[in-house]
Amino acid sequence: MILRQSLLMRALAHRGEHMMKTLLSPVTAGKLQLNHRVVMAPTTRMRTKQGGVPGDLMTEYYRQRANQGGLLIAEATAVSPFANAYEDAPGIFTDEQQAGWQRLVEAVHARGSQIVLQLWHPGRQSLPELSAGHQPIAPSALVARETYGVVKNEQGVYEGRLFPVPRALELDEIQGLMKELRQAAIRARAAGFDGVELHAANGYLPEQFLLDGSNQRTDSYGGSLENRARFLLESVGVLTDIWGPGRVAVRISPSGIYGDMHDSDPTATFRYLVGQLNQFELAYLHIIEPRIVGPEDREAGYYAEPVASRDLRAFYQGKIIAAGGFKPEDAESTLQKGEADLIAFGRLFTSNPDLPERIRNAFPLAAYNRDAFFGGDERGYSDFPAYSPLVPKDLLV
Ligand SMILES: Cc1cc2nc3c(=O)[nH]c(=O)nc-3n(C[C@H](O)[C@H](O)[C@H](O)COP(=O)(O)O)c2cc1C
Repeated sequence: MILRQSLLMRALAHRGEHMMKTLLSPVTAGKLQLNHRVVMAPTTRMRTKQGGVPGDLMTEYYRQRANQGGLLIAEATAVSPFANAYEDAPGIFTDEQQAGWQRLVEAVHARGSQIVLQLWHPGRQSLPELSAGHQPIAPSALVARETYGVVKNEQGVYEGRLFPVPRALELDEIQGLMKELRQAAIRARAAGFDGVELHAANGYLPEQFLLDGSNQRTDSYGGSLENRARFLLESVGVLTDIWGPGRVAVRISPSGIYGDMHDSDPTATFRYLVGQLNQFELAYLHIIEPRIVGPEDREAGYYAEPVASRDLRAFYQGKIIAAGGFKPEDAESTLQKGEADLIAFGRLFTSNPDLPERIRNAFPLAAYNRDAFFGGDERGYSDFPAYSPLVPKDLLV
């Protein structure tokens, strides 16, 4: 019986490796040398200890997902005490937060994987309740309509709250924001990360500057495309100053609408931006496909194909990670067509801690638990097991 099972496992492994040849092949992205191309996408899970400090629960979660010599991108992490959108999301602006991250990074490294920190300033998507009472700041005083942050109410239950109208930044405040980012980059390096990823996607501050739907400034940070891209590009410059070449990355969401984002000509905007990013020798450019809105799929049929990485490939010279709605099969075909170099998986990694191993062995994938995405304890978080033939069938997608 045991012999028959191990023969079956070997046959499945052979099939998986054969079918996912490119996805499972090694790759170098800047200074990151990776055994395979299955990346864990950044996923906010709202499970820090008090004060935005990553604790044992988070360390265990990332440790479980770090056993295959790949790349993990740690969740959106606040660079400023004055800008946060989700209660119990992590920060990187205090000594305690830095020390918590350091323990987590050590656990990931001990299992042979690499980890990059996603640096996050939500701008107009900030709640004063989570931002030391400060009104959100943004390029212009334009609210993100129908967009919610999450706070715990008096009963300790998480609830969504609309973001208030932000205050337009004064020109002389921008250098202060760059200083915060710089400090966060220094702390991330001290915590032992392998790199940092600027969160310039999903309607957060750098993208608020970039798109003309959220930027009506008339100074050097608004108006022309060149001016609107300035904040984002200066941010990347700050990060590469600290980290040098090959260890800084940028995440973008071309044609994304999450956070009430829009632009009069997204194709031109993103082509220009990624062309400008060529000057920095990034580790990678991370592109969210517009078939995804934040953590949700768009309606079926709307951009069913991964169109953004395909389009931007011609304008960007470095490595590209594509993300958004991928299953192993279309991940493999996207790589084989040369439209991206690595694929990031978000929701599937939440429920499959051993995702690369499952792909390698053609094992079935466990269904994710949407109810446990944001906030809570180990349930629906670190209690998903690695694959075993004994897992009940109803857990599998
Ligand atoms: C629970 C959850 C939290 C997320 N948090 C982040 C985040 O912190 N930063 C980010 O850039 N994207 C975040 N995303 C988006 C994912 O990185 C990814 O782009 C999205 O889930 C689509 O990929 P998928 O279809 O593989 O899940 C989140 C998505 C989910 C489901």
